[in-house]
Amino acid sequence: MTDAQSFYGRWARVYDWVANAPGVSSWREQAADSLALAPGDSVVEMGCGTGANVAHLRERVGSPGRVVGIDVTRAMLDRARDRSVRTGKTVHYVQADAARPPVREADAVLATFVAGIFEDPAAAVDAWCDSVVPGGRVALLNFQRSPSALAAPLNLAFEAFVRLSAPGTRLSTQSHASAFERRVRAARERLTARTVDRRYETFAGGYLGLLSGTVQ
Ligand SMILES: C[S@@+](CC[C@H](N)C(=O)[O-])C[C@H]1O[C@@H](n2cnc3c(N)ncnc32)[C@H](O)[C@@H]1O
Repeated sequence: MTDAQSFYGRWARVYDWVANAPGVSSWREQAADSLALAPGDSVVEMGCGTGANVAHLRERVGSPGRVVGIDVTRAMLDRARDRSVRTGKTVHYVQADAARPPVREADAVLATFVAGIFEDPAAAVDAWCDSVVPGGRVALLNFQRSPSALAAPLNLAFEAFVRLSAPGTRLSTQSHASAFERRVRAARERLTARTVDRRYETFAGGYLGLLSGTVQ
C-alpha cells in the first residue's frame, strides 16, 4: 500500500466533507468549464477522490456522455460510488494508478488537487495527454502559495495543508510546501509543453491555479 492509499484510506470521510464544503463547488465548476466539454463527450478524472467533480462533469457531457473516475484508494472510491447512487449520476469508477491510466481516446482529462502527489508529475501529465484524442483538453487545478505580500500567515496554513494532503511528498532540505510546489510546477510545465490554446486562471486570492490546454 502506498502512502497516499493509507492516508486517504484513513481520512476518506473527512476528505469527502472538505471536498464538498461550501465555496469549493465554484472552483470545480470553473475547472469543468475549462475542459470545453460537449454533450456526448467522454471525460476522465485522474485521482477523482470521493467524486466531488462528477456532478459538474456529468452535467456537461449529458446522458450520452461518459464520465470515468480513476483513483488508487478504495475507501475514496467507495464514497464516490455512494455519491453516484445518491445523486443518480452514472460514473465508471476504476481503482488504478493514475500515473498509468487504463484509458484511451478520451475527449478530456481533469486532475484536481492531485498533480503535487506524484513522484514524477511530468510523466503523469504525459500519460494524461496521451489518454486524450488530438484536440482533447487536459486541466490541472492546484493549490499554491499566494504571491500577495499580505498572504504570509495564510502561506503558513498552506504549508500545514500540504503536509496533510500530500502524504507522498518527501522532506529533504526543502519544506513540504516547496517540494509540493516543485511538483505542481513540473506538471504545469509539462502540460504547457504538450498543449496549445492554453488558459491559466487563479482563484481564492491566488491560492488556486487552474491551467488547461488542448493536446495536438
Ligand atoms: C487531494 S485528493 C483529490 C481528490 C479529488 N480530485 C478532489 O478534487 O477532491 C487526492 C486523491 O488522489 C488519489 N491518488 C493519490 N495517488 C494516486 C495515484 N497514483 N493514482 C490514482 N489516484 C491517486 C488519492 O487516493 C486521493 O483520492
